[in-house]
Amino acid sequence: MQIFGVDIGGSGIKGAPVDLDRGDLTQERHKVLTPHPATPDAVVEGVREVVEHFGWTGPVGATFPGVITDGTARTAANVDKSWIGTDIRKLVSDRLGGVPVTVLNDADAAGVAEMHFGAGQGRTGTVLMLTLGTGIGSALFTGGRLVPNTELGHLELHGHDAEKKASSKAREDEDLSWEHWARRVQKYLAHVEMLFSPELFIIGGGVSRKAHKFLPLIEGIEAEIVPAQLQNNAGIVGAAMGAAGEA
Ligand code: BGC
Repeated sequence: MQIFGVDIGGSGIKGAPVDLDRGDLTQERHKVLTPHPATPDAVVEGVREVVEHFGWTGPVGATFPGVITDGTARTAANVDKSWIGTDIRKLVSDRLGGVPVTVLNDADAAGVAEMHFGAGQGRTGTVLMLTLGTGIGSALFTGGRLVPNTELGHLELHGHDAEKKASSKAREDEDLSWEHWARRVQKYLAHVEMLFSPELFIIGGGVSRKAHKFLPLIEGIEAEIVPAQLQNNAGIVGAAMGAAGEA
């Protein structure tokens, strides 16, 4: 079965049809830049462009970088605040001529894809996927099932919102060495481990491609720590899985 997945992010809107049996894209993904200001109307126009690029007219799964309940955005930490309260499911569906649309938090979608097709396959204990990007996203699993909208990037650490210090963006903005940033990530993981005692941390986000530069520097964490395997396509695959009712 195929479903279209689209990943709405702060810098790009990316999508492709997804083969749900293989957990992979059936065609090369198409990306448009996220418009600025990233208002709901402008972004949804970008989603339409990506979907129409493939001539797709079937069901669509989408991700969004904030809390999502009932297809509606409840927070918008790193995107335009006008998203809060927006019924994304309806907005996207209306723009695409009424097709069924499902919306998941971006990290939850990436986590669902990793659990089925990537680093979390077959893991039944507590698994935490953390995406280190513009912010920090989290997806919590136990028995392979997602607890949606965990928002662990906003834990307070030494008086700061954790994602402001340990995200990939913080490393870039503050020009931190890998060693310096890895110490921050380590403190963050230790804090999360103290709260949840996961058996496995899956580290995602674009920076997971450079996992060899920082994961070996992280010490003193009991849980196994592995990079995500699906990398940049996890959100698209997970979005499609959500639309298929597999999240
Ligand atoms: C948002 C989360 C999101 C994460 C990654 C955080 O700031 O609150 O909902 O998953 O960024 O995009």
